Order: sequence, then structure tokens, then C-alpha cells
Amino acid sequence: MKNIAPTDHEVFFPDHDIIVSKTDVRGRLAYANQTFCHVAGYSEEELLGQPHSIVRHPDMPRAVFKLLWDTIAEGREIFAYVKNMARRGDFYWVLAHVTPSYDESGKIIGYHSNRRVPRRDVVQQTIAPLYAAVLQEEGNHKNGQQALAVGFNFLVDVLKSKNTTYDALIFSL
Ligand SMILES: Cc1cc2nc3c(=O)[nH]c(=O)nc-3n(C[C@H](O)[C@H](O)[C@H](O)COP(=O)(O)O)c2cc1C
Repeated sequence: MKNIAPTDHEVFFPDHDIIVSKTDVRGRLAYANQTFCHVAGYSEEELLGQPHSIVRHPDMPRAVFKLLWDTIAEGREIFAYVKNMARRGDFYWVLAHVTPSYDESGKIIGYHSNRRVPRRDVVQQTIAPLYAAVLQEEGNHKNGQQALAVGFNFLVDVLKSKNTTYDALIFSL
């Protein structure tokens, strides 16, 4: 399932629908709803136990996933725009709401993500150009750690220069 060539074909899901998944603490899929399976093009059996990066799109900057993981590992929720890749390389944009799940003792036992159809104007005018700029910065560094650090700092700096944060930006859109 790896080494899928991305296409420039976008796939869509209905406005009223939600793509749902649950993972363990490492991000391995423990649940995927029908909409997830349908849009991503995998059966439930193929998805369960796989890392969530199975739908990772190469256009997504590493920095956004760092922000996601830093936030949820601290026990906070995050709303994030994500470009995902389906089985045959097609892409679909989502606005994801990712939250930690806890046991009775308050320990994080996994994560939950609900994704809705994002506003197209927001993706096209704000998010896609922002992510492309971060990705370009990351692309200047062969070393993965370095690319991540540079991309993350670039993202933070861009947001700072606009007097905002990722959270505030997402809510303002
Ligand atoms: C609940 C949850 C939902 C996630 N949803 C996605 C997703 O829809 N698409 C995606 O590419 N990564 C998603 N991730 C992040 C992946 O775990 C991973 O960090 C990301 O795909 C980058 O993978 P890489 O580090 O192997 O490049 C999710 C993680 C969690 C915990």
C-alpha cells in the first residue's frame, strides 16, 4: 500500500458526512467508519492496525503533524486542515477535530478524529498556500529532523508575523 503515486484528482464526500477514526496512543488505527473506508478506498480490515499515515499525502508538511501530535499528547484538542491521499493516489481535504481519549484514571489511551468537509475558499486561499510554503522550506533540507525543525519554525514565524497562532487562524477562517 506504500509508494502510491499522488494524482491531481480530488475526491469528495457529502457535506453532512463525517470521516471518523480512532487510534491507539501511537496513531495506529483502531476504528474507521464506513465513510473513512469509502473515501480512502480501503476496507476496514485493511485499515485496522495500520498507522494513520496510511492516508498521508506528500503535500502535507511535517510541521503540521508535529503541531497535531504535540497538542494531543499534551491532552488538548486540535482542529486542523489536512490533505489526505486515498488508495489510488487521489486526494481529499478535511477539517479534522482530533481529541485524546482517557481511561478512568485520566490516562490517555488513544485518540479520536472527526473530519468534515472544509470550506473550499479557505483551503484554496489560505491553507493550501500556507502548507505549500512550509513544505518548500522543509524541502530545502535532506535531513528529516532538520526539515521538521525548519518547517515548524517557519510555520510559527509566518503565523507570528500575522499576529496569530494555528488555533486562532483556524477559528478565524
Ligand atoms: C487520531 C489521529 C488522526 C490522524 N489523522 C490523520 C490523517 O487524517 N491524515 C494524516 O496524514 N495523518 C493523520 N494523523 C497523523 C499521523 O499519525 C502521522 O503523524 C502523519 O500521517 C505523518 O506521518 P509520518 O510521520 O509517517 O510522515 C492522525 C493522527 C491521529 C492520532
